[in-house]
Amino acid sequence: MEVTSSYLPSLQKYVGYLEGIYARCRLTNNGPLACELAARLEDYLGVRNLILVSNGSAALELAYHALDISGSVVTTPFSFPASSSVPAWNGIDPSFADIDPHTWNIDPDQIESAIRSDTTAISPVHVYGNPVDDVRVSAIARRHGLRVIYDAAHCFGTRKAGRSILDQGDASAISFHATKTFHTIEGGAVIFRDDAICERARRMINFGFDAVTGDIVDLGTNLKMSEVHAAMGLAVLDDVDYILSHRRHLLALYMHKLGDYVQCQRIDAEVTNGGGYMPIALADTATCERVYQHLGNLGIATRRYFHPSLDTTVPYARFGTTRYSRDIADRVLCLPLHTKLSPNDVETVCTAVLAGIRDTAPRLVSLAGIV
Ligand SMILES: Cc1ncc(COP(=O)(O)O)c(C=O)c1O
Repeated sequence: MEVTSSYLPSLQKYVGYLEGIYARCRLTNNGPLACELAARLEDYLGVRNLILVSNGSAALELAYHALDISGSVVTTPFSFPASSSVPAWNGIDPSFADIDPHTWNIDPDQIESAIRSDTTAISPVHVYGNPVDDVRVSAIARRHGLRVIYDAAHCFGTRKAGRSILDQGDASAISFHATKTFHTIEGGAVIFRDDAICERARRMINFGFDAVTGDIVDLGTNLKMSEVHAAMGLAVLDDVDYILSHRRHLLALYMHKLGDYVQCQRIDAEVTNGGGYMPIALADTATCERVYQHLGNLGIATRRYFHPSLDTTVPYARFGTTRYSRDIADRVLCLPLHTKLSPNDVETVCTAVLAGIRDTAPRLVSLAGIV
C-alpha cells in the first residue's frame, strides 16, 4: 500500500486536450489551456490574481521576488525544505520561530522574538493544510512593517468558514505537484493581494517582458506553466470534488479509529480539512520508528514527513533552534491517503498502527494529557 498515489484523470479526456495542443502547435508561453486553467481555478477557489507557475517552489520564489523581500524572513523549521530553501537560495536568511505544539504551525507568540533588524517578511506554513491564525500574523506584520507570504503548498482543499484560505497575506503560494490533492504533474500558483504586484509578477515569470509592448521592464526568469501541464490540471479539476470527498471520508475514518490513541493536529472547528495528509504523532521517536517498521513489514508505506526538523540539518542549523518543532518532527508519521485507498484499507492501516503502539499506548494517553 503506497503512502501517496497520483490521481490520474480519464486518459481519453487528457488525450483530447493533447490533440488540441497538437492542432494549435502552441506548447507554452501563456497558452489557451494555461489561461483557461487559471480562470477556472480562480472561480473554483473564489480568489483573484492567481498566477500559474512551473512548481510550488517557483511559486514561493515568485512571491519573494515580486514583493521585493530581502534580508531575512521569519518562518518555521517544521516543514518541507522548500519553505526555507527557496528564501535561502535567493539570499534571504530564514529565521526560525518555533511551532505551537498543538497546531504544529508557527506559533504567533514566537514570531516577534525571531524578527531580526533585516527582517522584511514572515512566511508561515499552513502545515498539512491546517490554517495559521492569519489575524494574529497580520497584526504582527503590520506592527513591524513586514510582508506576509503564506506557504500554502498543502491548502488546495482547505476552507475556513466556508472560504478558501488562499487569499490571505500579501501572497499565498501553492503546489500542484503530482502527489497533491489537485495537481498538474508539476506546477503551482501564487495568489497576490495587490493588483499592481500581481501584474509585475506576471512579467517576472516571463523574463520581465511586458505582455503588450514586448519591452523588458522587470527583472525576471522563466517560471511559466506549459500547456501539457495545464491540460492535466484541467482534466484533474473536473474530478476534484470527488477527490476531496473521497479523501475527507478516509480522513474521518482514520480519526474515528485512531483519534483516541495518537496525537493529531488541533484544527479549528470552522475549518474544512483539505484532505491532503493524515499525520499522526506517536509517543516518542522509538515508537514512531517501531510503527514505521511494523507497517513497512506489512507492506504499508508511511512517511516521516516532516522529519527532521530543518533546524537540525546542516544547511539550516544556523538559523535558529527550536523545541517543539524538533519534538513533533521526531514523532510524526504520515499514513497512506489517496483515492486508490478504500475504507477497508484504512481499517487495515489503523489495526496495524494500534498493534504497533500497543506497548506504549498507556504512555500516550498520559502524554496527550500534558501536550
Ligand atoms: C510546505 C511545502 N512548501 C513547498 C513545497 C514545494 O512544492 P513543489 O514540490 O511543487 O516545488 C512543498 C512540496 O511538497 C511543501 O510541502
